[in-house]
Amino acid sequence: MDWKEQVKKRFSENGAAGRWSNIYSKEFSNVEAVSFRNRRDYTVNFIKDNVAAGSLVLDLGCGAGPVLKELQPLDYSLVGVDYSPDMLQFAAENLDSSGKKIPLLRGECEKIPFPDNTFDCVVCLGVISYAESIDKALDELHRVLKPGGVTIVSYRNKYNTICMDPVKLIKHVLTLPFTFFKPEKKVIGRSIPRSEVIADIKNHPFVILKEKPIGFGKLRFAGKVVSDRKLAVKVNNGLDRVLTGLRLNFVYRAMADVHIFILKKPDL
Ligand SMILES: C[S@@+](CC[C@H](N)C(=O)[O-])C[C@H]1O[C@@H](n2cnc3c(N)ncnc32)[C@H](O)[C@@H]1O
Repeated sequence: MDWKEQVKKRFSENGAAGRWSNIYSKEFSNVEAVSFRNRRDYTVNFIKDNVAAGSLVLDLGCGAGPVLKELQPLDYSLVGVDYSPDMLQFAAENLDSSGKKIPLLRGECEKIPFPDNTFDCVVCLGVISYAESIDKALDELHRVLKPGGVTIVSYRNKYNTICMDPVKLIKHVLTLPFTFFKPEKKVIGRSIPRSEVIADIKNHPFVILKEKPIGFGKLRFAGKVVSDRKLAVKVNNGLDRVLTGLRLNFVYRAMADVHIFILKKPDL
């Protein structure tokens, strides 16, 4: 099955589409749901505080519409694009039918169906892991942004599951001399090393405005999940407080589950 077909299958109604629609409801109390809600809230708050009223905002890979739903009552013109028809269907159902109409279109992050310099802001949460080429997706984000526009891009950190599992961490360190030069296998939905994302960002004329790590994920021992609920949420919150309080940003970034980059296309 080719790459795009795999993505469509993964985010179909028989795949993960329903889960991605439900995960933002408060009934989901596992640590992954908490991190995704924090990712959504951080993004929405950034837009409220930094993107002028009346701006045109694209949610690229909008999924079931969690960000669009929060922005719908606010003074923005909104558009959602996703590759999966089933995710777009969930988005249509989740948005407020009596609220502002939001166009929802099928499209790809590596070939965004809009002209150059269209948007003031593009949200792209959890999508680049499904792109065949992150570099191409960044080309397209840069192309459709107006000069001075911003994009909020998130992905999951490859080293999170290693740092949060003591057995895996020891194994990783011991085998490092043999694995260091091995090229990354690209599979859909992969967690990505920060260095790879930074290298791709640097290929484009973007300015990095902010970087925000969020959450530490499930607690694991030797690959087995020890907790993904109350205890894991408590440990996540505790680690967040300690590392933020001590300003240990580089440790937080190395361990964090979700990474967000906020990138600006420079003004002309
Ligand atoms: C992990 S979900 C995240 C959805 C949403 N952004 C959120 O924060 O809940 C990834 C989404 O990206 C979409 N997607 C995957 N590959 C894509 C591509 N090449 N172009 C556009 N959307 C894509 C999927 O269909 C899915 O809805």
